[in-house]
Amino acid sequence: MTVTIDWENLGFDYMKLPYRYIAHYTDGQWQAGELTEDATLHISESSPALHYGQQAFEGLKAYRTKSGEIQLFRPDQNAERLQKTADRLMMPQVPTEMFIEAAKSVVKANHEYVPPYESGGSLYLRPLLIGVGDIIGVQPAHDYIFTIFAMPVGNYFKGGLAPTKFIVSRDFDRAAPHGTGAAKVGGNYAASLLPGANAHNTGYSDVIYLDPSTHTKIEEVGSANFFGITKDNEFVTPLSPSILPSITKYSLLYLAKNRLGLKASEGDVFIDDLDRFAEAGACGTAAVISPIGGIQNGDDFHVFYSETEVGPITRKLYDELVGIQKGDVTAPEGWIYKVEID
Ligand code: PLP
Ligand code: COI
Repeated sequence: MTVTIDWENLGFDYMKLPYRYIAHYTDGQWQAGELTEDATLHISESSPALHYGQQAFEGLKAYRTKSGEIQLFRPDQNAERLQKTADRLMMPQVPTEMFIEAAKSVVKANHEYVPPYESGGSLYLRPLLIGVGDIIGVQPAHDYIFTIFAMPVGNYFKGGLAPTKFIVSRDFDRAAPHGTGAAKVGGNYAASLLPGANAHNTGYSDVIYLDPSTHTKIEEVGSANFFGITKDNEFVTPLSPSILPSITKYSLLYLAKNRLGLKASEGDVFIDDLDRFAEAGACGTAAVISPIGGIQNGDDFHVFYSETEVGPITRKLYDELVGIQKGDVTAPEGWIYKVEID
């Protein structure tokens, strides 16, 4: 390694790396993409992405294995989710192969920034699809930019595998019942900024959102999905059309069932029925698995396993998931994409 970075103490912060990928969609098709050292996007002041939120993003990670190789975790799933988001916002799909090749090229070009195996860090990739061009009416753009940039990251929530506390939002929802909650669009995150800031300012890691129509069921966390382990060891995670379909969550559903031998299901998680859970956590690419020590729900503070210790099933799930991502545990077929560095 020739770069000097404090790998052990990375948080989740932007870092300008040497290279990013950029491709332009014009005349009804994607033009050949390329790596560039230019970290600034040059777009029209009237771009629909800026005015009407016609944009989408993704998040995925590259990991360094014990032997020094680099691998991506399920990039095909991110490509597919971006395609669904693109459909919802009337943007052109980025083909899966183009997405994966772009991701690999960014990792390869910045390979010195993939944190060492021992550090616990990873290289976070941020794909972005935006509608650009000279349009001022509320309508889809004709032209688009697809870019992927990257940065080395450590923990998203300060605790890492130490539990932290979360707070239920009743004053604000992140998504509408038939809105864009299931799409990874910036507008959902814009809606979460104020409740998120209120939560941080009062000592909570993030917000737990309830279903927007009845406020009786947990939907998800502002930046991750929610899961609970019931007292009889079932992995349960909310099912709702207005939450982001987390790739980590679906991976955990699979691993809970097929590797840990647990029952695992998606279903209703009523906020007044948290007693059924022995453990709870937030899961996502950035969050990985972040144990939830307790949830503030109005005046009630509900503690799960412990406010200071990670529960045993959450720990097993973490070891299995992170073991696969870092190459220590055999991955289910098709989950790992090697990045060749020559
Ligand atoms: N939910 C929200 C709101 C998110 O921002 C994320 C992060 O991507 C997730 C869930 C987790 O999704 P994934 O596991 O695909 O990263
Ligand atoms: C991710 O985990 O990739 C996310 O997008 C979560 C957050 C940083 C917005």
